[in-house]
Amino acid sequence: MSTASAIMPQSNGTNGHSKHNGTCDEMGVDTRYPDGTVRLRNPNIELMDQDILYHLALGSGSHDLVEMFGDVKFVCMGGTPKRMEQFAYTVMAEIGHKLPCGTTLQDISQFSYRYSMYKVGPVLCISHGMGIPSVGILLHEVIKLMYHAKVRDPVFFRIGTCGGVGYEGGTVIISEDTVDGALRNVLELTVLGKSVQRPAKLDRRLARELKALSDPEDPYDTVMGKTMCTYDFYEGQGRLDGAFCDFTETDKMEYLESIHKFGVVNIEMESLAFAALTHHAGIKAAVVCVTLLDRLKGDQVLAPKEVLDEWQQRPTKLVCRYMKRYLQIKGRLSLDGHGSVAVKSPRRFKLVQQESETYD
Ligand code: URA
Repeated sequence: MSTASAIMPQSNGTNGHSKHNGTCDEMGVDTRYPDGTVRLRNPNIELMDQDILYHLALGSGSHDLVEMFGDVKFVCMGGTPKRMEQFAYTVMAEIGHKLPCGTTLQDISQFSYRYSMYKVGPVLCISHGMGIPSVGILLHEVIKLMYHAKVRDPVFFRIGTCGGVGYEGGTVIISEDTVDGALRNVLELTVLGKSVQRPAKLDRRLARELKALSDPEDPYDTVMGKTMCTYDFYEGQGRLDGAFCDFTETDKMEYLESIHKFGVVNIEMESLAFAALTHHAGIKAAVVCVTLLDRLKGDQVLAPKEVLDEWQQRPTKLVCRYMKRYLQIKGRLSLDGHGSVAVKSPRRFKLVQQESETYD
C-alpha cells in the first residue's frame, strides 16, 4: 500500500471536528461527534493530507467541501443519472428551492464519468449505478463526503425499482429489512482474503414514518416488508429468461413461494450494501422502491415506457413528502420559489413562452 506517502498528519487530527462524547451505535462505537457531524470509522482518513473522492470528481484538498455541502440534510440515491436529474428537478419544485435567474442545475460529478450528483439546497441527489459493488463504492465516498463537509445527522434514501413478490407492477414498497439470496440479513464482503459480515439494518422508525405519509387517496398500494437483494438480475433472481438457466419453472416457483412465505415482498440489487454501509456509519437510511412486475406472474418487464415512467415517480413522491415535512417543521422550506424563473401569471408565462418559440 502506498499510504505512507499519502498519509500526512493534520494539525488536530480530527479535521476540525470536536473530539469527544459523540453518539454511539449499539456496539458502543462512536459514529458522531457531539455536534452531530459524521465520525468516520477509519482512523487513516483524518491523518491524510488530502482525500480524493475519485469517483465523485471531488477532493478535500481541491474543494471547499464544507462550503459546498455543509448544509446537506438528505442524500437521495437512485439507479440512473437521468432519473436522478429528474428527481432533483422534482425536489426543487417540491421544496420551493430557487436558483438564481439564468442558472440551472449542474452535475457536480460530471467529470468522473461514473456517477451524477445534483444539489438542491439541503438535498443531494446521486445516481448509484446498478448492483452492490457500484452502490458500495459510491457509499464509501459519500459517507466520507459527509465527514469532510461536516454534515450533521444526514438521512439517506434509496429510491429505485424492483420486482414484486406477490405485488402487481406500480406498488410502492418500503423495505423494513433486507436479506441476501439465501435470506441472510448481512452483507458479506471478502476483506484481505477473509469473509466479513456486516449487519444490513435499515431504520425501522424512518420506514414507519414514510409509511404513515402514504396517502389513502393514492391510486396504488404502499406496503412495508422484507426486501431481497441479489447479485444478479437473471439467475440470481430466479429468472428463466437469462442467457443461462439450469433450473425449471417448478424450481423457480418453489423458491419464490418460499421467500414470499418468509416475508419477502420485493427483489432488487442494491439494498443490502445500502443498509449495511449506512448502518455501519450510523446513518439513518430507508429504501423505497416501485415494483415493475409481479415475479410470481412472470420474468419480463412488459409495461410500456410511459407507464414505467409514471410508476417511477411514486417513490419520489413519498420521499419528497417526508423531506418537505421535515424542512417545513425546521423552518427551512421556501414556499415562494419556482426554480430559476419567478412566475407572476402562469397563463401569461405560457403565452410568452409559446410566442417566443414560434419566432425564427
Ligand atoms: N429490478 C430488479 O432488480 N429486479 C426486477 O425484477 C425489477 C427491477
